[in-house]
Amino acid sequence: MSLTIEQLKHAFEQQFGQAPEYHFRAPGRVNLIGEHTDYNDGFVLPCAIDFETHVVAQPNGSNKIRVLAADYTYQLDCIDLEQEIAHHQEFQWANYVRGVAKSLQSREVELLGCDLAISGNVPRGAGLSSSAALEVALGLAFSTLSKHYLSKSEIALNGQQAENEFVGCNSGIMDQLISAQGQQGNALLIDCRSLSCKPVEMPESLSVVIINSNVKRGLVDSEYNMRRMQCETGADLCNVSSLRDLSEAQFATFEDQLDPVTAKRVRHVVTENARTQAAAIALQNADVQTLSALMAASHVSMRDDFEITVPQIDYLVELVAAIITDSGGVRMTGGGFGGCVVALVPHKKVAEVKASIATHYPAKTGLIADVFVCRPSAGAEIVVQP
Ligand code: GLA
Repeated sequence: MSLTIEQLKHAFEQQFGQAPEYHFRAPGRVNLIGEHTDYNDGFVLPCAIDFETHVVAQPNGSNKIRVLAADYTYQLDCIDLEQEIAHHQEFQWANYVRGVAKSLQSREVELLGCDLAISGNVPRGAGLSSSAALEVALGLAFSTLSKHYLSKSEIALNGQQAENEFVGCNSGIMDQLISAQGQQGNALLIDCRSLSCKPVEMPESLSVVIINSNVKRGLVDSEYNMRRMQCETGADLCNVSSLRDLSEAQFATFEDQLDPVTAKRVRHVVTENARTQAAAIALQNADVQTLSALMAASHVSMRDDFEITVPQIDYLVELVAAIITDSGGVRMTGGGFGGCVVALVPHKKVAEVKASIATHYPAKTGLIADVFVCRPSAGAEIVVQP
C-alpha cells in the first residue's frame, strides 16, 4: 500500500480529529483461467493476491459519510445521507464510494454516518481489480458500521451492482467474489451461476508471477460491453439462456448458422468454460503439463476468437513461454486490451523470466513491464473492530 496502516490512521486522525477504531481490508485478484466466462454464467479460476485496499473508519454520529482518499492527494468526499446519492462530478474514485453506498441502500441497509480513510496498493488500471477491492472493502465497512450483517456473496453482488449501475461497466461477478471469498494458498473454482466457490490448492512448486504490460488501456469499457452483447446475441441464436448451457458438441451444430464474429465469440466462451474446469482438476493434481497446455490454449482463444489481446501482451506471453515451456503456464489475465499477463513459474525460473522481460520487452515495445511475484491470499476481512 502506498501508506502504512499507521500512516493511514494518522491521516484519518489529522482529518477527522479522532482515532479510527475499525479497519477493513480487501484484496485485488489475478485470474488463472476462465476469461469473459463469468457474465455467461460460466466458470472462472482466480486467486486473491497480496495487493490490497485498506479502509479505516469510525462512526461520526451525523447523517454524513465523509471519505478521505489518502492515495489521491488527500481528496475528500462528503455524502449527505438525507439526500439521494448522486454522481461526483470530479473524483472518479468517489463514484465507487457513492455507488457502493447507494447499492447498499437499495438492499435495505440503513447507512449510518461515519468517517473513512482509504489507501491501497493494487495497481490501478492494470486489470488486477483495484476497483473490486475498493467496492468490497467499502461494502464490508459500511455494512459493519451500520450493524447490518451481509454475507460475503452479498457484499460481492453489491459491489458488482455499484459497478454496473453507478460506474457504468457491465462487468460480471468474478472480481468482487474472489476479493470477498479468496482463501490463502488457494485459487477458487467459481461457478458464476450458483456462486459456489471450490478452493483449489496452488502447487508448492510454482510462483504466481504477474507482469503488467503498462500498455495504456483505451476503450476498455466500451469493448467490454460490446463483447458482452455479442455473447448475449450468440446465446439467443443458439437457443440457450446463457452460453454456459452450450456444450462444444452443441456449438458445432450451430457454428455454420452464425455470422463469423459471433461464432468466434461463442467458440471462445464455450471452449474456455471447458478449459477452466479441466484446469481446476490439473491444478488440484499438480499436473503442470496439462495446466500449461490449457493456459496456452486460453491465450490463443482470447487472441484469435475473442480478440481482446494486444501485440505487447502477446509478446510477453511468448517471452515467458519460451523459458518455462511446459513446466509452467502463461496467458493474458483480466478483461483485456492491455493490462497483465499471469504466469505460473517454477521458483527456480523466476529470475530468468524477469531478466528476459527486462531485456527484450523494452527493446521491442518501448515500454517497461512491472513484474510482481504474488501470494494467493485471503479474501476481505474485518481486521480490527472495537
Ligand atoms: C473484468 C470483469 C470481470 C470479468 C473479466 C474477464 O475483470 O470485471 O467480471 O468479466 O473482466 O474475465
